[in-house]
Amino acid sequence: MSPFIVTRTLPVDATGADLRTDVLQGLGRDPKSLPPKWFYDARGSELFEEITRLPEYYPTRAEREILHARAEEIATATGARTLVELGSGSSEKTRILLDALPRLHSYLPVDVSESALTLAAESLLAERPALSVHALIADFTRGLTLPGSPGPRLVAFLGGTLGNLLPDERAVFLKSVRALLLPGDALLLGTDLVKDQATLIAAYDDSAGVTAAFNKNVLAVLNRELDADFDPDDFAHVAHWDSGHEWIEMRLRARRDLVVKVRELNLAVAFEEGEELRTEVSAKFREDGIRSELAEAGMELSHWWTDEAGRFALSLSTPA
Ligand code: AVJ
Repeated sequence: MSPFIVTRTLPVDATGADLRTDVLQGLGRDPKSLPPKWFYDARGSELFEEITRLPEYYPTRAEREILHARAEEIATATGARTLVELGSGSSEKTRILLDALPRLHSYLPVDVSESALTLAAESLLAERPALSVHALIADFTRGLTLPGSPGPRLVAFLGGTLGNLLPDERAVFLKSVRALLLPGDALLLGTDLVKDQATLIAAYDDSAGVTAAFNKNVLAVLNRELDADFDPDDFAHVAHWDSGHEWIEMRLRARRDLVVKVRELNLAVAFEEGEELRTEVSAKFREDGIRSELAEAGMELSHWWTDEAGRFALSLSTPA
């Protein structure tokens, strides 16, 4: 097995400092909110993997269907020699792409989770010993510099994670992606699509309660990392469809009046009965909206593929 390289661009204590700032700001404002990235400790990542296998959670299966159907076309259209994957996680769906890109020389997975990166890189190299793998521990929403690797480069951002950014965060992020692209490079973007409310709500409020457990896991993260005393049973899982913004909001609703202590921050936070803490936005898109957000960031959409049922889209774009 050939070795792989891991480069850390996040300071070792960045996560701790970011969490403190996010919690101070998010629990201090009205309405209260937290960024969704804090779901993903080891337990949260496990729960997310479980979500992807739920009957109600269609996005993962829909995206995999498109990747299987279009991998050859993607290979022909891009001729990629380097695949950069933002938020690579377990790199599970990426294998479909890796297997379809005959000219591929380098794979650069980028994720905040060192453990996910190392695991994925090890198992990939076992299967593709000739592949050069350079894993980057980085927060891709904070700007990105990539190590040298042969072009053309294909930057993949899959899973619909773009939808977890708010519109102005999306604009900044897409511009930073655009800045990575040279002529001949491309962006492969996975986006969940607007559809009927019942399907959307069910995907974020499954009958087995896995999404509820995932949502409440952020409280366990705060208890452990910041010595807080949230009781998950004091909160109810809420999945709300905001038809104006066309996004799902996950929230945690206080079941009674209560005060939570966050000892590491010397903070006491009051919740009124019925008060909701927003833990995630998951925006759903339309082709026109994606096309114009990409154009705004200096990219031109060249391909738009959906699954048979039209639930999810993969798009390919090039620098304009
Ligand atoms: C795959 C990270 C985009 O927003 O659908 C799953 C996360 N949240 N169930 C999404 C998630 C609730 C997911 N992302």
